[in-house]
Amino acid sequence: MQDSLVYLNGQLTPLADAKISVLDRGFIFGDGVYEVIPIYAGQMFRAEQHLARLSRSLAKIRIDNPHSNSEWINLIEQLSQTHPAQNQIVYIQVTRGVAPRAHAFPAHTIPTVFMMCNPMVLLSDTVRSQGVACVSMEDLRWLHCEIKSISLLGNVLSAQYAAEQSATEVIQFRDGFLTEGSSSNVWIVKDNVLLAPPKNNLILEGIRYALVEELCSASKISFSSRPISRAEVFGADEVMLTSASKEILPVVSIDSKPVGTGRPGPMFSQLYSAYQQAKPPAKPSAKK
Ligand code: PDD
Repeated sequence: MQDSLVYLNGQLTPLADAKISVLDRGFIFGDGVYEVIPIYAGQMFRAEQHLARLSRSLAKIRIDNPHSNSEWINLIEQLSQTHPAQNQIVYIQVTRGVAPRAHAFPAHTIPTVFMMCNPMVLLSDTVRSQGVACVSMEDLRWLHCEIKSISLLGNVLSAQYAAEQSATEVIQFRDGFLTEGSSSNVWIVKDNVLLAPPKNNLILEGIRYALVEELCSASKISFSSRPISRAEVFGADEVMLTSASKEILPVVSIDSKPVGTGRPGPMFSQLYSAYQQAKPPAKPSAKK
């Protein structure tokens, strides 16, 4: 682990040697953004969309994007090729850089760029076929959840709330309407219609949001993006989570109350198999 290579400011370097200043604004203020891109069988999945979201997040906090898309892709490929796992998760972080501590933007800083690759640990078939338990809570985060900010204290506290109740994720509500999980988007199904909260400043637009919309139109599944009340979530036939690492995950209980039949539903099965088809195919294993 300590020998595995990471990327820091132009260099591939062993993790143990990757060091930044304690005055980095990411460390002092959480002043930066990040991305998480899945790699299947050595190929990035939805790289263009992830890099477009990185650009949007950087623009929102007024950091110039340090690289063009082709440079990013090159750098990610160089790094991921030093790791043996076929399926990986690339973490990219860009902060405003190093400066004496003062809240407003410093005049001239060079962004700090950090990337690491880790093996993607996919959930077991058993977990996915049984579904997971979630707990609900009020969304106490700020009003710029559309930015993939490294300031994740609100998300950390809500994830911990779930962990302390042995739940997989929180289902958050703001003023009685569904927002998202601590690190995933939330979907509900009612009467064969898939519903998701609108894309606005109250949620992060997951890369799987548009992907699931595409899968719905290809599979003739009705989809609607609109505000979803707490009562609708608790009365849903199915609830699902999506994220780069969870892919699509069925929720079978919220606050110990069963969702629908209390088992993963047919819409989940349909979307999950469509998602598996959409992924870059696994490389055939070498013949013995
Ligand atoms: N999280 N909403 C939040 C708050 C998230 O943190 C994430 C992803 C998502 C889903 O986005 P996507 O489909 O692009 O993974 C929604 C990543 C995986 C993380 O923080 O590790």
